[in-house]
Amino acid sequence: MKVLLLGHKGMLGNDLMAQFRHRHDVIGMDREEIDITRASECRRAVAETEPQLVINAAGYTNVDACETAKEECFAVNAEAVKNIAQACRDGNVPMIHYSTDYVFDGNANHPYAEEDPCNPINTYGASKLAGEHHLKRLTDNFILIRTAWLYGAKGKNFVSAILDRARETGKLTVVDDQMGSPTCTRDLAAATELLVDKNARGIFHVTNRGCCTWYDFARKILKEARMEQVELSPMKTSELQRAARRPAYSVLGMHKFVAATGKTMQPWQLAFSDYYSFIASRTCLSPPGTA
Ligand SMILES: NC(=O)c1ccc[n+]([C@@H]2O[C@H](COP(=O)([O-])OP(=O)(O)OC[C@H]3O[C@@H](n4cnc5c(N)ncnc54)[C@H](OP(=O)(O)O)[C@@H]3O)[C@@H](O)[C@H]2O)c1
Repeated sequence: MKVLLLGHKGMLGNDLMAQFRHRHDVIGMDREEIDITRASECRRAVAETEPQLVINAAGYTNVDACETAKEECFAVNAEAVKNIAQACRDGNVPMIHYSTDYVFDGNANHPYAEEDPCNPINTYGASKLAGEHHLKRLTDNFILIRTAWLYGAKGKNFVSAILDRARETGKLTVVDDQMGSPTCTRDLAAATELLVDKNARGIFHVTNRGCCTWYDFARKILKEARMEQVELSPMKTSELQRAARRPAYSVLGMHKFVAATGKTMQPWQLAFSDYYSFIASRTCLSPPGTA
């Protein structure tokens, strides 16, 4: 199948390229080749490449920066989704798009189902929800994957930030009152291909299984990196001055994904162990103080 992958240089896009190119002819486009906020460029990209599937992994993903750069955030996360969805509808091509756990307000105490009411509490979440609305209004021919707490080998993320700070300072303070599901982009890319293979359509929640706080996740990262000597202390979100509010609980229920694919995602702890062995083998990472 010929696949047009937008945002292929991003963290998820990089792993989607690696996943899909085994069995498909993938054309990657990123900011150098296309500005997805321009409708004409989206139309042209679809018309010229004649794909059988379009995957949009591009996005404005700096959650705190969204609070000040609202216009750009909505242009990329909402308007651009409209542009791509229109081009896909006109070319009769299915579209895959990614959204976020941050469309929910975090007041639940059980995993969110796909049809639960959305109520974003920050600009990023509001822009992603606006993108979802455009997509649903324009076409039925889509897979919309809501995911959360992504990390991957490409780009900066929570894992790289924890490892960098641990090496630099030997001391970390991490919030312990937000609950979510750390998700490896390699697993998400594989799950995306599964949904494509099953010819699924609609909204799906996809994360690694289980949940934890950022503090728990930091502890797991330090353990895997054999850096348990690093001092790790919990803190409350209210003590952290961040521009954007975060939902306290944003765990996503995955019954629909399991029903559609017959598979479950691996638990976040196993996914992270796999991921760490992979990056450690690639970069010869070793804990401080070892040869
Ligand atoms: N990261 C997470 O924890 C997380 C959680 C839930 C959902 N998601 C969603 O998952 C998707 C992938 O996230 P990610 O973290 O992999 O993103 P990412 O690493 O930030 O990559 C996004 C890519 O999109 C490109 N891009 C931005 N604006 C563009 C434009 N106007 N035209 C063309 N390309 C543009 C970026 O280029 P530049 O680098 O040049 O800007 C970058 O290569 C996004 O939809 C995101 O909202 C992410």
